[in-house]
Amino acid sequence: MKLLVTGALGMLGRDLVHELAGGGHLVSATDAASPAACLDITNPLAVRACLLKEKPRWVINCAAFTKVDACEEQEELATRINGDAPGYMAAVCADLGIRLAHISTDYVFDGTKTGPYHEDDPTNPINAYGRSKLKGETAIAERMDDYLIIRTQWLFGLGGPNFVATILKLAEERSSIDVVYDQFGCPTYTRDLAKAIRVLIENDARGIFHVCNRGKASWYDLAKKTVEFAGLSTQINPVTTENFPRPAKRPANSVLSTMRFTDATGKLLPIWPAALQGYLQSRLTKGTNSTE
Ligand SMILES: NC(=O)c1ccc[n+]([C@@H]2O[C@H](COP(=O)([O-])OP(=O)(O)OC[C@H]3O[C@@H](n4cnc5c(N)ncnc54)[C@H](OP(=O)(O)O)[C@@H]3O)[C@@H](O)[C@H]2O)c1
Repeated sequence: MKLLVTGALGMLGRDLVHELAGGGHLVSATDAASPAACLDITNPLAVRACLLKEKPRWVINCAAFTKVDACEEQEELATRINGDAPGYMAAVCADLGIRLAHISTDYVFDGTKTGPYHEDDPTNPINAYGRSKLKGETAIAERMDDYLIIRTQWLFGLGGPNFVATILKLAEERSSIDVVYDQFGCPTYTRDLAKAIRVLIENDARGIFHVCNRGKASWYDLAKKTVEFAGLSTQINPVTTENFPRPAKRPANSVLSTMRFTDATGKLLPIWPAALQGYLQSRLTKGTNSTE
């Protein structure tokens, strides 16, 4: 199939392009910063012209403003990229008969639920990033019926800065690191997510799906396993969210249920510690030793 990826120079975008091309698809990899295939998703005329020229079967939108804390001060820009642009894209796709897959986030939820979040649970974002991403979901659903929205969380991968890479870097510089232990989610490897996105597209899926690696963790659990698997002696100290203030509030629990994905595809993603080992192994193979 002919596929077009936006935000293809980002952490997920890089692995997704590799996964789709490896699966025999013809992939156009675009990004606002790409010299060869520049596409700024906030420019509706450019989006239309690009889709008219490329005529892909699917657009997979990985482009986003993902700096969660920066979104607090730049909510207008975040809303333009994460909220309005997916709406234009959906309108053009609906007009040209192109399917749209859009990546969204666990941060559309407020984190007050005790168990895992299902796709139909009520959304109620508690920070600017979550509000902008929810706006993107709503804008798409208003403009097309056969959209695919994939909510994911806590990503790590070779193609960009992420929590695991930050812990490895800090572990080189410090003997102990304070990490929050009272926020829970599912750490997810972008390579596993990319495979799952390919499966959903090849299955012609539609609707909202939660996709993440299996198993629940706190940031503290993830940091502990990272230093353990990397063979480092750095001490990880558990601290509360209250003692680690950040500009953007984070949901206390944003564990996503992937039952709908498994029912639709028959696939299970690996448990997160196995995914983490895979990521650390690929960093060694690639010779990556710090925050990318
Ligand atoms: N990272 C996570 O933990 C996480 C968790 C949940 C959901 N998600 C979602 O997963 C998706 C991929 O995330 P990621 O971590 O791979 O993000 P990322 O590494 O920040 O990649 C996003 C890419 O989009 C590009 N971009 C920004 N504005 C653009 C525009 N106007 N037009 C075209 N490209 C633009 C970025 O370029 P610049 O870098 O030059 O700005 C970057 O290359 C996003 O939808 C994100 O919201 C991520």
